[in-house]
Amino acid sequence: MADVYEKTTTAPVNIAVIKYWGKRDTSLILPTNSSLSVTLSQDQLRSKTTIRASKDFKTTRLWLNGVEEVNLENNKRLQACLRSTRLLRKEYENSLSSAGHLNIPPLSEWNLHICSENNFPTAAGLASSASGFACLVYTLAKLFELPTSITDLSRIARQGSGSSCRSMFGGFVAWEMGNNADGSDSQAVQVASETHWPELEALICVVSDLKKATSSTEGMQHTVNTSELLQYRISKVVPKRMHDIEAAIHARDFKKFAEITMRDSNQFHAVCMDTFPPIFYMNDVSRAIIRLITEYNNSGDGTYKAAYTFDAGPNAVIYAPKKNIKEIINLLAHYFPSTLDSNKEYFNDHACLFSAE
Ligand code: PMV
Repeated sequence: MADVYEKTTTAPVNIAVIKYWGKRDTSLILPTNSSLSVTLSQDQLRSKTTIRASKDFKTTRLWLNGVEEVNLENNKRLQACLRSTRLLRKEYENSLSSAGHLNIPPLSEWNLHICSENNFPTAAGLASSASGFACLVYTLAKLFELPTSITDLSRIARQGSGSSCRSMFGGFVAWEMGNNADGSDSQAVQVASETHWPELEALICVVSDLKKATSSTEGMQHTVNTSELLQYRISKVVPKRMHDIEAAIHARDFKKFAEITMRDSNQFHAVCMDTFPPIFYMNDVSRAIIRLITEYNNSGDGTYKAAYTFDAGPNAVIYAPKKNIKEIINLLAHYFPSTLDSNKEYFNDHACLFSAE
């Protein structure tokens, strides 16, 4: 029996078009609304995780980006992912041994060494926790040889970082909020595969790579506690939008997709501003990008040419048909030369982040 087992996998970033914002259970990470995202191409933005299991390791340890060792003791979310996957492995080991298999390595009991790295700036507000936790859970599942479905694994990843459950699938992915108090139906499902809409691409505009002042976790709780608009959003707006955007994706209807995406980004930021005291994630450059895309869309023949969306930070993600991407980059370079200059290398390398080809 070998003493060391090792697995490496990668997982992509996802960018929501219907935003998750608000938890109804903070320890299980159960959301106050369903959400939907597009998983970007792994060629450009991804996390990569290698995990080793050995009976000789004294403790379980984790390193981020090759240098920083993470303190696991205080990290409840990481512990939750480790605990859940180990439990599944234990059940698997028991089922194999009761079926008469001999010499099954008891990986569920061994300590692990975990190395996780991102091929993009971790602090840039580019959903690194989503790809990071998805990758952790997927690598554990592979290492433990778990016969578990991706949707089942998504419920574990969700406990690391909510949005990471959507990075378990490629293409267009919904996180169904579920109704159960134990989170057993709060999970990711694939709405359409990565080959469904090859014309659609995403362009990431790094407006600032400074760490955000209010983390998603703090911002969400503050919103749940103080925003009145949030109740309207989760009960009246999101359910219809989830339905409508799924239909737009299935029909590859860019105009509908773009309108819902932009409206939902706007409402998410309106909800943040409705908190007391208010939270601001966008800055002047973000708002100028909104004006630019609005003008660009108005200059067309009535069909939209691009859609913006902003997460909990000032960086823009622009979804657009592939044929418009060059024109959009030229527009951005014209109106925001300094923004693009300071991120030149990054921007050039990562101009087109989503391509199903
Ligand atoms: O999963 P978290 O805690 O990083 O929260 C992500 C929240 C948003 O990115 C703003 C929206 C979303 O649905 O991804």
